[in-house]
Amino acid sequence: MAKTYLDVNPSTRLTILESADTIGGVWCQGRLYSHLKTNNLLGTYEYSDFPMDTAKFGVKEGEFIPGPVVHEYLKAYAENFDIYRRIRFNSRVDTVTRRDNGGWDINFSEGVGEKTTSKSITSARLVVATGLTSEPYVPRFAGQDDFDAPIIHAKALMEQESLVHESKEVIILGGSKSGWDSAYAFANAGVPVNWIIRESGHGPMWMAPPYVTPLKKRLEKLVGVRFLSWFSPCIWGESDGFGWVRRMLHNTVIGRLMVDTFWKILANDVITLNGYDKHPELKKLKPWTPAFWVGSSLSILNYPTDFFDYVRNGTIKVHIADIDHLSHKTAHLSTGVTVQGDAIICSTGWKPHPSIKFLPEGIDKRLGLPQTAPNPTSAEATRIQEADATVLDRFPRLRNQPTRGPSHKDFKDLRSLDARQHPALAQGEEEEPYRLYRFMVPPAFINERSIGFVGALMTLNTTIVAQAQALWLTAYFAHGLAIDRQQQGHAEKGPKPAFDIDAVTDETVLHSRYCKWRYAAGFGLRFPDFVFDVVPYIDMLLQDVGLRSRRKKNGWSELFDPYGPEDYRGMVDEWRVKIA
Ligand SMILES: Cc1cc2nc3c(=O)[nH]c(=O)nc-3n(C[C@H](O)[C@H](O)[C@H](O)COP(=O)(O)OP(=O)(O)OC[C@H]3O[C@@H](n4cnc5c(N)ncnc54)[C@H](O)[C@@H]3O)c2cc1C
Ligand SMILES: NC(=O)c1ccc[n+]([C@@H]2O[C@H](COP(=O)([O-])OP(=O)(O)OC[C@H]3O[C@@H](n4cnc5c(N)ncnc54)[C@H](OP(=O)(O)O)[C@@H]3O)[C@@H](O)[C@H]2O)c1
Repeated sequence: MAKTYLDVNPSTRLTILESADTIGGVWCQGRLYSHLKTNNLLGTYEYSDFPMDTAKFGVKEGEFIPGPVVHEYLKAYAENFDIYRRIRFNSRVDTVTRRDNGGWDINFSEGVGEKTTSKSITSARLVVATGLTSEPYVPRFAGQDDFDAPIIHAKALMEQESLVHESKEVIILGGSKSGWDSAYAFANAGVPVNWIIRESGHGPMWMAPPYVTPLKKRLEKLVGVRFLSWFSPCIWGESDGFGWVRRMLHNTVIGRLMVDTFWKILANDVITLNGYDKHPELKKLKPWTPAFWVGSSLSILNYPTDFFDYVRNGTIKVHIADIDHLSHKTAHLSTGVTVQGDAIICSTGWKPHPSIKFLPEGIDKRLGLPQTAPNPTSAEATRIQEADATVLDRFPRLRNQPTRGPSHKDFKDLRSLDARQHPALAQGEEEEPYRLYRFMVPPAFINERSIGFVGALMTLNTTIVAQAQALWLTAYFAHGLAIDRQQQGHAEKGPKPAFDIDAVTDETVLHSRYCKWRYAAGFGLRFPDFVFDVVPYIDMLLQDVGLRSRRKKNGWSELFDPYGPEDYRGMVDEWRVKIA
């Protein structure tokens, strides 16, 4: 975002406030636990304007990118584009207050320990890019004060690396990618692992080998193939201009049969390649929900040795159970089993809300931030009902929401469990996800052009989405979207063009409700989380800024070659020419 904004506004005074002491977010130095690698092979986790050169970064074709290399790459990127000197490290934003006359007061704590001081900056424009994997979520357990050993989040695994070398046995909680990584880190160091995946939850996450059917292609590339994107019912899918194919696939019986077959092939391939049905212990890691309903937590086996060997030889013992309570270095499970550990590693995910307090009190809802007790007005409730009706009408298959777990409860039950952490849910109130237009701008502020959120979504195509969002937001701030240009054409010297807030809100609610229905076993209820829908999402953003979205050299490539960073090279310049 900083790079794109500076490209277009070189004289702007741009400051990045960063709470960590090094660059990289997820990939900052303090979070690079051993064996951390990208889910992506070389070529799909880099920006279009800065290829991850093998000679410079040492990663070869067909290799996953080690965490330290991503860190180095991001640092080199920032230095290369004159961003690095603008970052104020150890600067944690505490509050952001909206000023009466527009703009934002940003209050932050700068420094470390006793040397921390409170500072503030006022800015006409603010972009929040605090990520969805910054603020660890650690559950509380009955009896945890009696555990007498560290209970840490996976985020702190590197800081507490000594646990990996000194523990005699460890307990790991969480069946998603951080859980797999933590289990691997300990098992690889020879430490026996008690791995607990809660029976009341979503179960073990889908873990794919890097190359899958059809044609043994790279998984993270398959999701960028336009032809394959048609097999995902997508509310913004028609942005790709192939609405008729999508309607044929999702609104006819024969089409839906083809879609089912596609997902079955993909899922069976993973299950067969991983050999879940060939070993009683591996069977415990077989996912509970069809891959269709899962979002970006779909991950890749990116380990240097076979993960499943540790399960087969008993170094990793999988327990499908909830923790009932803790006592001295012991977890008592809902199944009656007790397990021991010199530490508990909570690979239990992240808080979706930004770590910043927005003021004045109550502004969160207007900013489109997630709400645990949304309390919609009747107009909002009607809007939600209408959005739901549209989604289910367009995609009838989404009516049959998945069940989960060995007990096949539905996902609403999981929320009543989470209600222990979110009291509002206990009263049966619906959680509401991020509500941002194009997943970036709060509808209530759409005509102010003073605030945007980037990265408030999860996909397997992080870098190309980041660059498309950066261009869209920069163009939006500059009144340079296609809609602005059309309106300027009509308005001549009249008032500044405005968005229709009602239409923007309708579309925002529609897109967020779609995510809820479509990715019921992913994070859809909290934030946009999607897999095969990235190419049409970028199509939509590029059309908004007035650029061509079909970027391949011929029709065949357009349909069957994966989209990657190289296809979006030069977008900012193309847009500048457009608005000149
Ligand atoms: C361990 C791990 C591995 C991952 N691997 C992959 C992968 O292989 N491929 C993939 O596509 N995705 C992966 N992801 C998803 C990941 O979230 C994205 O790839 C990407 O890092 C998101 O970038 P971001 O800049 O939006 O957020 P982040 O990387 O989380 O950066 C947010 C930044 O905001 C800062 N910040 C937060 N709050 C404040 C505050 N109040 N004040 C100041 N600064 C603040 C944080 O310190 C951080 O530097 C991974 C996630 C995790 C946790
Ligand atoms: N490149 C890499 O190698 C890598 C490494 C780590 C993460 N990532 C990415 O980062 C993102 C986040 O992954 P993540 O694994 O950190 O988080 P996550 O996907 O949010 O997973 C959190 C896990 O914790 C479990 N959990 C939550 N609350 C719990 C509780 N109270 N008790 C027991 N278990 C609980 C969840 O179970 P339920 O499902 O039952 O709620 C889930 O299995 C994903 O997109 C992932 O792909 C990538």
